[in-house]
Amino acid sequence: MSEAIYISGTGSYLPEKILTNQDIAKTVDTSNEWIVERTGIESRHIASEAETTSYMGFMAARAALADANLTSADVDMVILATMAPDMICPSTACIVQKLLGCRPIPAMDVGAACSGFMYILELARNFLLGSKNYKNILIIGSEKLSAMVDWEDRSTCVLFGDGAGAVIVSKGDHNGILDVFIGADGSGANLLTIPAGGSARPASEGTIKARNHYIKMDGREVFRNAIKYMGESINIILKRNDLTVDDVALVIPHQANMRIINMVAERANINRDRLFCNLNRRANTSAASIPIALNEAISSGKIKAGDLILLVAFGAGMTWGASIIKWK
Ligand code: ACO
Repeated sequence: MSEAIYISGTGSYLPEKILTNQDIAKTVDTSNEWIVERTGIESRHIASEAETTSYMGFMAARAALADANLTSADVDMVILATMAPDMICPSTACIVQKLLGCRPIPAMDVGAACSGFMYILELARNFLLGSKNYKNILIIGSEKLSAMVDWEDRSTCVLFGDGAGAVIVSKGDHNGILDVFIGADGSGANLLTIPAGGSARPASEGTIKARNHYIKMDGREVFRNAIKYMGESINIILKRNDLTVDDVALVIPHQANMRIINMVAERANINRDRLFCNLNRRANTSAASIPIALNEAISSGKIKAGDLILLVAFGAGMTWGASIIKWK
């Protein structure tokens, strides 16, 4: 690669309110023990009415810009990944661009569910490598999933949380983002859906009564496919960069379920001490999970200059992806 693309700043935002498993057990038939044993989740952050997906994305973006020593005037494009946009139209990225006070630069949303961050990382990398017009691209994963889950469905409401993570991807003198691999298989599109509210099934009294504006999931099939495709993504990205898992200092997997993470790690021979996990306190924040975890790994001193970091994700679609980053 002749040009250098690197992560120049990271930031995250988590709502103040914390909802514990014990809190959820007061409203649906579940228990702290069941949730911890099956998922590893103990608590999650829940957004207030004012903490919209755009607001949380804006706050994470501000922190990432400060970390990069940049201002909104330096941003050349905003790409936001979410499955909980403020509205179907316009894009949440346009709202964040306005909140930040950017120039009239391009802004767009990308829908790849829990793999969203891998998709926008690959987009940013290619815009920067392929064009002279961009120097700094702001990528954001932001999710207000508490608005999308059915709080009467114990099989899904325990799994998700709210939050946002942002990264500035810049052209510069570091060759930080070595590679990104992304993939999808639409034959699994039915495994995790929000069936109504789009053009196929517009909102109606019937769709509301059927609770079809909330997340519906075939948990077992999602579980099985997450292990398969996260494992394959790790193998592909390592192989095509002539690396082995022993070359990697830290693996940051999408934070969906501790059992998924442990099985993926076991099959790929990744030691527990090289896995970064914050799932117990964050739950699954979909597209925000990897940038939040990356920001936390950096602030807690888990990443040193020169380290190779492996990111890996799986999500609805089905979608998946992995990336190798050499830390600056
Ligand atoms: N509390 C108590 N019991 C529950 C709960 C709950 N919160 N949820 C389900 N159960 C019950 C079920 O009703 C079922 O009862 P039954 O045997 O009487 O019918 C029993 O527990 C077992 O249900 P399963 O669905 O088989 O439980 P499983 O061990 O598969 O765990 C889970 C369910 C946690 C959802 C698991 O399938 C999973 O994590 N799947 C992956 C889902 C995921 O991570 N999705 C996120 C989006 S995609 C991604 O990010 C990768």
